[in-house]
Amino acid sequence: MTQETSSRSVPGSGPGPLTGRHALITGASSGIGAATARALCRAGATVVLTARRAERLAELQSELNAARADSATVATCDVRKAVDLARVFDAEEAAGRPVDLVVANAGLGLGVSPIQEGDPEDWSTMIDTNVKGVLHTVRAALPTLRGLGRGDLVLLGSVAGRQVYPGGNVYNATKHAVKAIYDALRLDNVGSGIRFTTVDPGMVETEFSVVRLGDQARADAVYVGMQPLRPEDVADAITYAVTRPAHVNIGEIVLWPTDQASTRDVHRSN
Ligand SMILES: NC(=O)c1ccc[n+]([C@@H]2O[C@H](COP(=O)([O-])OP(=O)(O)OC[C@H]3O[C@@H](n4cnc5c(N)ncnc54)[C@H](OP(=O)(O)O)[C@@H]3O)[C@@H](O)[C@H]2O)c1
Repeated sequence: MTQETSSRSVPGSGPGPLTGRHALITGASSGIGAATARALCRAGATVVLTARRAERLAELQSELNAARADSATVATCDVRKAVDLARVFDAEEAAGRPVDLVVANAGLGLGVSPIQEGDPEDWSTMIDTNVKGVLHTVRAALPTLRGLGRGDLVLLGSVAGRQVYPGGNVYNATKHAVKAIYDALRLDNVGSGIRFTTVDPGMVETEFSVVRLGDQARADAVYVGMQPLRPEDVADAITYAVTRPAHVNIGEIVLWPTDQASTRDVHRSN
């Protein structure tokens, strides 16, 4: 038995272990978020794709709806704005499609300067996106989930939320905050029937390093001589967590590339 307990028929859903589930993914325009949208859809869920880049979301929506009609919708939103998240969750609820599976994935790193040379504007963007963005997402999602008395809230943390590394400073702090938010959610909602999961990957090859370092060549150098995780590997872990029986809450998943032993130790073949 999966966590699905609803008998309602959601247009576009099924067949699969997530048939009847309605998911919302933040940061679905790229990387882990896009791979997760594909994986959840393949498992039978309907998905609401959110991010800032509408064009990217529209492309993914077309792909998913070509595979299964009506399986994906789009809602552009900036997780730094609480009102954006509230609007999206409220609209789904008002349309009779309450979101019962949330993946709070949107996030970014900016720069790798030592803290004494860091840019406070970059710090604000990381804190607003990675910490306040997650808070805005869970704040907007919880009334529906609590009303249903079930559902999944998955946070994208990182091994950077468990270990720090040189130049990681503020990004590390934001991901440590995500771990604290995950711990707090469990305590504040015990008995609600909602499951909480933090998925904490090591190095995953996405657009993350391009955004962080500012150009493709520097981003490519991050992965030279080692095999990073693929976004699909992380999506697979998320799918595993949300397809367990209702009484099983996979709380914390830490995924490393086999070539990575810590945030500071990476085996490279050249
Ligand atoms: N890649 C890694 O090595 C790695 C490792 C551990 C954890 N993570 C975490 O995994 C998550 C996904 O990252 P990724 O690797 O998939 O990177 P990515 O390919 O750069 O994707 C990041 C996503 O976040 C969205 N986003 C950024 N700022 C946003 C905002 N203000 N509002 C709404 N959406 C926003 C982006 O969409 P728009 O730009 O279209 O808004 C994009 O869809 C992040 O939380 C990251 O910290 C990544």
